[in-house]
Parts: sequence; C-alpha cells; structure tokens
Amino acid sequence: MQAQTGICAEPNLHASYLMFDITAGQEDEVRQALAHFPELCREFENSYPDAAFSGLVAIGAMVWDRLYRHRPESLLPFPSCSSEHYQAAVTPFDLFVQFRADRFDVLHLAGQRLMARLGGRVRLREECRGFRFMDYRDLTGFVDGTENPQGEHRGEVALIAEGPFAGGSYLHVQRFVHNMTHWQRLALKEQEDTIGRTKQDNIEYASADKPLSSHIKRVNLKHADGRSKEILRQSMPWGTLEEQGLYFISCCHTPAHFNDMLASMYCGDGNGHFDHLLRYTRPVTGAAFFAPSETFLQQGGE
Ligand code: HEM
Repeated sequence: MQAQTGICAEPNLHASYLMFDITAGQEDEVRQALAHFPELCREFENSYPDAAFSGLVAIGAMVWDRLYRHRPESLLPFPSCSSEHYQAAVTPFDLFVQFRADRFDVLHLAGQRLMARLGGRVRLREECRGFRFMDYRDLTGFVDGTENPQGEHRGEVALIAEGPFAGGSYLHVQRFVHNMTHWQRLALKEQEDTIGRTKQDNIEYASADKPLSSHIKRVNLKHADGRSKEILRQSMPWGTLEEQGLYFISCCHTPAHFNDMLASMYCGDGNGHFDHLLRYTRPVTGAAFFAPSETFLQQGGE
C-alpha cells in the first residue's frame, strides 16, 4: 500500500492548506476526482524536482460514509475539549488538502489544477499559506518540531502498518491564532517556562525543572509500559501581520495519542495544571480526518 507522500514529507519552505465541503449529490464525482489525486501529485513531483513537492488529501470524519463503503474503525469527529477558561474549537470540514514545496509558484499551480478537477463539486471553506519561519521556529520564536520522529520512524508513527487501511493516517488539524502582543510582553524566562525549553538554543529543561503547566510537560505522554505516545507533527507558521499563528497538523496511526495530548493540554493533570501556552494562542478551527493510502484512493475505496 503506497502512502500519500505528504504524510511523512520532510519539512519544506512553503505550504498551501485547503479545506473543502462537498456539495450534496456530488459524492460520486468527488470520489472519482480523488482517485486521480495521487497522479496529480506524481506529475508535480516529477515536473519540478527542485521544489520537493508533496501532497495529501484527507477525508473528514463526518463525510467519510458519504464517499466510501468501508470506514477506518477509529475515525471519530474532532473531540470536544474544554477547561474552566478555554475551549478547543470544533469545525468539521469534508476534505483537507495539504500541498508542500520549496516553491510557492508550484503550490499555486497545483491548487489551480486541483480546483479545475473539483470545481463546482466542492466549496472552498478555507485557504491558508504556511511558511518556514527562521530556523524552523514557530512565531512564538521557539523551534518547533525538534522532538518529531525522524527517518523511518516517521512512517512507524504516522502510518497504519497493516490491515485494510494500511498506509493510511489519522489527521487532526487546528489553526491556532497567537496573541502576539500578549506573548511578546512576557519576560524571556516566562516564555521558556511556558514551553519547557530554552528559546535561543532550544535546549529541553531538565525533568525536575519543567513546570507542570509547560507545553512539553503536558504533551509528552507515556503508555502504562513506559513507551512514548508519539505523533508526527507537520505544522507550519501561517498568517498576516494582523492575524498569525501555527497551522497545527498531527498525523498518527491512531487518533488516541492526539486526543490524549489535547485533553492533557486543556484539562491538565487533574490538579489544575493545564497547558499555559493556551493563554497566548487559541485554535479557531479543529477537524478530524483520515488520509487513506494512494492505492485506496485510486481504487475508490473498493
Ligand atoms: C513540542 C509549539 C500545539 C504536541 C513543541 C515544541 C514547541 C511547540 C515549541 C518544542 C519543540 C519540539 O519538540 O517540537 C507548539 C505551539 C502550538 C502547539 C506553538 C500551538 C500553537 C500542540 C498541540 C499538540 C502538540 C495542539 C498536540 C495535541 C506536541 C508534542 C511535542 C511538542 C507531542 C513534543 C514533546 C516532546 O516529546 O518533548 N510544541 N505546539 N503541540 N508539541 Fe506542540
């Protein structure tokens, strides 16, 4: 089973994120168009080798049964998650497309080609451009992605290994908007305590020094047997000078790891230690998807 290239892609300079809803009655046409999606990606990968192009399309949890007969068993809507002060947005979309490359013109062309295929059958609900900021930093100024799985381990974390949905991945997407004014008012030490790493040198705090409400503490979770609960993050900064933040994307062979991390960020450890990063950034979207293998798409799910 050939996985879609965008799931485990190495970091790029640019991204194009597209969210669609499918027009009622157009499901058969959309399924046929999606069957050609891998071919479209291959064409762009081969035509612009300097761009390191990759693509992925993921199907929303709420629309899956309108498109395909068999459903990935763990595909559920985005979890509703809230604490006393904060609530994670839940905004279902039918399709999520991620195009990534080192050339923005190539991404734009790929988007045009996709729209020509899907045009009239879908409604574009959101279009957002991601970009690399400095040396892989989030707009908070902290390096993002350091503890991401590397090399072959990316696939082990992100992709289902066997069974009818082998090569597929559960995706969770949240568009975060940062309160930059609020964040930039913090002293350096307060920012570092919020993340749990140093800012300039990107060094992880010693375990004993990590505040219980630091981001790292809240999302670094383990199974009962000591193994880490891992996800592959494909996030990138996005935005304008007025509204900016992180386009957060989690890819995993199970939705459970992301769901547990989100609950740990919002509800904390049961003793009031929620993730203090949430004081400075809030997700304005939140949607759950499944990105099936290329083979599954090409065979229309049969
Ligand atoms: C680590 C930023 C949201 C999961 C990190 C790191 C930064 C960061 C700077 C440390 C460097 C690294 O290992 O990548 C952010 C920002 C977010 C955000 C700015 C939102 C605006 C999330 C969400 C989740 C998440 C929603 C999952 C629900 C993780 C994980 C790690 C991490 C698993 C690695 C932890 C470790 O093993 O040390 N994040 N993050 N992050 N983040 Fe986030």
